[in-house]
Amino acid sequence: MTKYRHGFHAGNFADVHKHVTLTALLQALERKDKGFLYLETHAGRGAYDLERSSEGRAAVAGIERVLAASQSHEELAAYAQAVAGWRSRSGNPRSYPGSPLIALAQLRVQDRAVLIELVREEASALGRTLPALESAGRRGPHVQVIEADGFERLRAYLPPSERRGLTLIDPPYEAQGDLARVEAAVAEALRRFQTGVIAVWYPIKDARDTAAWQAALRSRVTREMLAGELWLHPCDSRIALNGSGMLLVNPPFGIAERMRAWLPALRALLDAQRSGGASVRVL
Ligand SMILES: C[S@@+](CC[C@H](N)C(=O)[O-])C[C@H]1O[C@@H](n2cnc3c(N)ncnc32)[C@H](O)[C@@H]1O
Repeated sequence: MTKYRHGFHAGNFADVHKHVTLTALLQALERKDKGFLYLETHAGRGAYDLERSSEGRAAVAGIERVLAASQSHEELAAYAQAVAGWRSRSGNPRSYPGSPLIALAQLRVQDRAVLIELVREEASALGRTLPALESAGRRGPHVQVIEADGFERLRAYLPPSERRGLTLIDPPYEAQGDLARVEAAVAEALRRFQTGVIAVWYPIKDARDTAAWQAALRSRVTREMLAGELWLHPCDSRIALNGSGMLLVNPPFGIAERMRAWLPALRALLDAQRSGGASVRVL
């Protein structure tokens, strides 16, 4: 059983990077009216109190800078709106919305969400949080919370009846095997649904390990792949988490160009010490 609890990390720079990228993906998918499935394999508990999150507490200044400077790019603006909207609905200005809440704030009535989480306590908390999202009069998307192993269960939802979909894979990487399980899950998701968009969050600790993993994926996946990376510390430093990566399979049209605009702006807001960097690469 996993010991990982996202509450300790919520709101750190990696969360912000992941959630802005998620926002950008949803914006891109919503350029078409046809509904789609938003599938999360590792959904977490939905909302986190930054006072209780050790990394989030330290990162509050970064998040606040992103929220304040959001007008520069539409992706940052939509992310800031999702965070501010959640805080006002929950009545807690220190609350930080996780990926399911960021996504549900943007999904439309014709879209659908399936949120998978292994840990019962986290899945129950997510289920309890969802009603707080419903604002009076707004008919939202259809949502299911599933308590299960996301790596195993994702196949049950692919291909979606809508024939359009975004799958977010965001495991804790506390176990050695998670990188290999991600690789297998991406291959299986594509086998079932070749044209689906897949986003995978990955940690950057040692750049050589990241490169080896990306090369392994590249040799297994024939679809287009893009990596957006943001790091706050040099890639070989001994700090536990130097950087945050988002791997996009079947990236929506135009997203790389947009990312090349907003990712450096996001880095400038989060990287107070100017020791990091950002890149967007086709793999
Ligand atoms: C990094 S957190 C998810 C954070 C969330 N996606 C967000 O951005 O707000 C990883 C989550 O995966 C859960 N988990 C661990 N192993 C899992 C598995 N095999 N299947 C589904 N969930 C799992 C953990 O309990 C944890 O809540």
